Amino acid sequence: MTTLFTDLDSYSEWRNSIPFGKTIGFVPTMGALHEGHLSLIRAASAQCDFVVVSIYVNDLQFGSANDFQHYPRTQTDDVNLCSTANVSVVFAPLKSQLFPNEIMTLLQPSNAADHFEGSDRPGHFAGVVTIVDRLFSVVKPTHAYFGIKDYQQVAVINHMSSQLHPDISIEICATEREPDGLALSSRNRFLSQRARTSAALLPKALTTAITNWKSGVMQSSALIDAVHSVLAQDPTIKVQYISIVQAGSMDQVQTVGSADVVIAAVVIDGVRLIDNMSFANA
Ligand code: PAF
Repeated sequence: MTTLFTDLDSYSEWRNSIPFGKTIGFVPTMGALHEGHLSLIRAASAQCDFVVVSIYVNDLQFGSANDFQHYPRTQTDDVNLCSTANVSVVFAPLKSQLFPNEIMTLLQPSNAADHFEGSDRPGHFAGVVTIVDRLFSVVKPTHAYFGIKDYQQVAVINHMSSQLHPDISIEICATEREPDGLALSSRNRFLSQRARTSAALLPKALTTAITNWKSGVMQSSALIDAVHSVLAQDPTIKVQYISIVQAGSMDQVQTVGSADVVIAAVVIDGVRLIDNMSFANA
């Protein structure tokens, strides 16, 4: 049975009742749960005694009040889904409880936040590390689960957590994809039918980089050009960035090795999509 807590004290009472030595797997979310979240929940329940899912739409990580207001909120469906997935606790706190002081200091993310999503969405990662740090302090998990689809978010959270919560084990889970390769994301629901068709070109373009690398192209610039060429087939796709970075970091590489990762962000019909693929999976 899944218990829903919206209040910090009730959650803490539950948390304090868990005997020392039991493991708590934590899946932080902003709700609008989909199969990608379920795969994180499944990984947590395979590894841990209890699974806690948080649902909190974090205004601190949105660039505009409009995006924040329009973010999908589907809490009843989310809690029902969690019940079917054997989640022990859904924690859906109010902002006033998480951040009782109106004036608060945001955490400064590491320099892994400087480029890509960080420069395209100023302030985004300060908002992410601030909420994840706060949730870690309240939820007190032993393990926390994140999807590698948000590659840069994982790099930034890993750094914050190693500094501030070194006892929490960060577990990284593979990207779940639609049959045509599109990475699952809460934003996919905003794609019109036409944009949804175009979106399938993003994983196809990244796969082209992997295929070309396998056939011997090692220069980052040549592989990035190949990704651009695939995306250029559809003029409705606006590329924000395409790059190749070293695994686990945001450091760009010139010559691509098997531990490197191709990352990209595009906008289609106003919907921003990100994705990445590792050359290790080639
Ligand atoms: O990936 C997300 O859904 C969010 O960035 C997170 C980690 C829940 C923080 O709000």
